[in-house]
Amino acid sequence: MIVLGIETSCDETAAALVDGECRILSHALLSQTEAHRRYGGVVPEIAARSHLSHLDSLIAQCFREAKLDFDSVDGIAATCGPGLIGGVMVGALTAKAFALALDKPFLAINHLEAHALTPRLTNNVEFPYLLLLVSGGHCQLLAVEGVGKYKLYGTTRDDAVGEAFDKVAKLLDLGFPGGPAVEKAALKGDAKRFDFPLPLQGQKGVDFSFSGLKTSVRHLVHGMKNITAQDKADIAAAFQRIVCASLAERTSRAIQLFKDDYPSGKTLVAAGGVASNDALRQTLEATAAKNGLTCVVPPPALCTDNAAMVAWAGIEKLRLGLTDTLDFAPRPRWPLAIQDVVA
Ligand code: KG4
Ligand code: ZN
Repeated sequence: MIVLGIETSCDETAAALVDGECRILSHALLSQTEAHRRYGGVVPEIAARSHLSHLDSLIAQCFREAKLDFDSVDGIAATCGPGLIGGVMVGALTAKAFALALDKPFLAINHLEAHALTPRLTNNVEFPYLLLLVSGGHCQLLAVEGVGKYKLYGTTRDDAVGEAFDKVAKLLDLGFPGGPAVEKAALKGDAKRFDFPLPLQGQKGVDFSFSGLKTSVRHLVHGMKNITAQDKADIAAAFQRIVCASLAERTSRAIQLFKDDYPSGKTLVAAGGVASNDALRQTLEATAAKNGLTCVVPPPALCTDNAAMVAWAGIEKLRLGLTDTLDFAPRPRWPLAIQDVVA
């Protein structure tokens, strides 16, 4: 079984061919970082136009590199939400056109589900598992029971964790995109020179909050005169330390809930762009070990947005016969699960 995956929900235009044996046959990705850099963030209209200009040639490149013709695919999958709607429409319409012309199944993929299922592509992780989903728009802890079956334990009350990285990068003038810039600066910093309060310390539940931490960083920065590169590195390192500590504390609590709900569950998984952060990967490794779970985090290039994860989610859905009709409307918002747990 081979599926073509298309990703256009933010600022990466990507296409990939993946087979049912977890092999990525080809993957073409164009990052729009340069187009958005001068604005310090992703401009939706620029993103959509850029997807439109490049998607066709990236798909053609994928088929060329895999030495396959269009007819050899068994389905066409595209991110149909959540995301910037102009870009999502470009990917969804392109996939629908392929599906119609080739008379193959169309698979409307939830971008969050594509992140959530990636550890099954990379590490064959079995259901159920506990997922920490950390991206630019989301910060959630969920039990993954199966394709389309999620139980939400906690979510952010304000900023997503990736958003907090991006805003702190802006405050420190570290450049765009923010997450990798903060991580790079933090490598040269003393994480103990500054301290910030741990978000939601001692509070019940497994929700997250990052806006207070961001405000603490802002107050510190605005109170400093002649801020040096070393100051910035120290602040970035302290911020990253507190983010990791908060994610670890909340994840530890969720592990207890997960173990009660799914005694057979063995794995903690992290996915989404922030999961490419090395300090976080190490933190989660330790958190899982302390609580008797195995930690699986996909390689960094499959944590940030990519099309292989979309193709893989397509394979998972196609295997279950979960195809979609061509009148599927792209969704700017599309939650994986509604929160029904308070602990
Ligand atoms: O999953 P993703 O590529 O796109 C969304 O679906 O949002 O995640 C992007 C987010 C951005 O906020 C970016 O700054 C953050 O992930 N990010 C990182 C790192 N790489 C990307 N945050 C911290 N450390 C990183 N190395
Ligand atoms: Zn993403």
